[in-house]
Amino acid sequence: MRNAESAASVSTMSVKIQLLNKAPTADKADVLVVVVDGPVKDNRLVSSLDEVLGGGLRAHLEKLEFMPDKGGVASVFSLGRGPAEQIVFAGLSSAEGGDGAQFSLEARVTTAVASGVRAGLLHHPKKINVYAPGFNCQAVALGTALGAYQFDKYFSSLKEHSSLRTVQVLLDRAPSLQDKKAFNLGLRIADGVCLARDLVNEPPNHLTPEALASRAKAIAKRNKLYCKVLDEEGILKAKMNLHAAVGQGSDNKPTFIHLAYKPPRASKRIVFVGKGITFDSGGLCIKPAPNMLEMKTDMAGAAAVLGVMESVAALKPGVEVHGIVGAAENMPDAGAYRPSDVITSLSGKGVEVINTDAEGRLVLADALTYSARLKPDFMVDAATLTGATLLSLGAPYSAFYTSSSQLRDTMNAAASEAGESFWHMPLIEELAPQLKSRITDLKHTGERMGGAITAALFLREFTEGIPWMHCDIPGPVFRERAMGMHPQGGTGHAVLTFLKLIEKHEGSVSDAAGPVRRRGTPPTVASRRAKRSTRTKS
Ligand code: BES
Ligand code: MN
Ligand code: ZN
Repeated sequence: MRNAESAASVSTMSVKIQLLNKAPTADKADVLVVVVDGPVKDNRLVSSLDEVLGGGLRAHLEKLEFMPDKGGVASVFSLGRGPAEQIVFAGLSSAEGGDGAQFSLEARVTTAVASGVRAGLLHHPKKINVYAPGFNCQAVALGTALGAYQFDKYFSSLKEHSSLRTVQVLLDRAPSLQDKKAFNLGLRIADGVCLARDLVNEPPNHLTPEALASRAKAIAKRNKLYCKVLDEEGILKAKMNLHAAVGQGSDNKPTFIHLAYKPPRASKRIVFVGKGITFDSGGLCIKPAPNMLEMKTDMAGAAAVLGVMESVAALKPGVEVHGIVGAAENMPDAGAYRPSDVITSLSGKGVEVINTDAEGRLVLADALTYSARLKPDFMVDAATLTGATLLSLGAPYSAFYTSSSQLRDTMNAAASEAGESFWHMPLIEELAPQLKSRITDLKHTGERMGGAITAALFLREFTEGIPWMHCDIPGPVFRERAMGMHPQGGTGHAVLTFLKLIEKHEGSVSDAAGPVRRRGTPPTVASRRAKRSTRTKS
């Protein structure tokens, strides 16, 4: 392992985020962020700021074509007359129109605050004040922390970057105990999202599979979680041969990570599984250079799972939550696995390798078998699995697959409450025969068309009848340009939705995956074939 987590870097000074009883017109700051709900002309704070600035503010906002209900932001220079040099108006998009109309009020508040704070960062402030009166303190705190996020540890000087020291969220009244609790919870949830962002932003020479495992150990230590890490030898001993095969072409050896939050007397259990390919060169089926550049983000599923584990202890659900990560670097060297290798998975099924660039599903297959054996109520995997998902939905949306209609409904509700974009996709049975191999139980890829669906169908072979959902998240985990609550770069996508899934499962009377838990094992390519061959024999 070379360079990992060791090169000189400037550590970011931390930003203090506080909840205070102060008037937005009275307290001085470099930037004041104001959330505007409804038409500008009806906004009381806009009126009073208009007075302070000497008139013309409304006309100016109109000139800027600021339409709050569409969710945009407008920055106004106060010419030294206001409480802040720069005032950023952030529109609260309405449920009827604008970006994110399908999202909950809570998510739209978070998005408005995050966009406002992020716009404020452009002016290199030391201090930002945020005014979002009447809204849930948790959503405001979350938006504030998400908006203030910057990844600047690799700059040699912090002159231009991270001047920010303080963000104050201003309240019209003395914060109640409930306000303070909600505010702190919002910040703790943001910690999980920002941890996922950091992991995705880390360069692949720094974030190796071993480095990812030490980050996981640190999460466990901070949050008092169960923690088990396997190295290459441990992975082979545990018979996760698919996982080991993907990692065998790299000097940076694979690791397997199992974290768990186990509250006393929990009767429910969820497992999250993340693809943790710290760099995906494609292996021997090497990627063309332009496609390889994005491949440091190929551990974003793992990042989301670890982000959930960072925040789950603060949420304190009465549900057991496990986080599993299969980490490896997919590289081509003399020891690399090859197309046409046949490998026995942890499940016992034989897998014929077709394309070494379809490495994610191999790592996940063993991780899913491991997870199924923990006997959860349901399991959810997250992976930057296929380019085909990007082709079908574009970068802004993730795809999800599940054969449980109850999990599907819960997921749709969780995503729109969280403010994240997920689209349900079908597991098309007609495509399943593409995974038949001539030499063993399964081929690991199908045809190009419908490639995201055959990838999901391959994973299903390893779920051992446990209710399961697969999230293919190649687009939203990394943004070329900032958008909504997302900054440029790693976004932490999926963390918020998964936390909502946990909350919903905790609140559910029966289990969220439906009452049919494990009564019916879905038919698999291998089992169908077994049936058929018995038939032919008899
Ligand atoms: N990590 C990639 C998928 C990906 C592509 C993620 C673009 C993010 C952006 C995955 O390992 C991969 O290479 N998939 C192949 C599968 C194919 C060889 C069957 C793909 O999608 O091309
Ligand atoms: Mn690949
Ligand atoms: Zn990959």
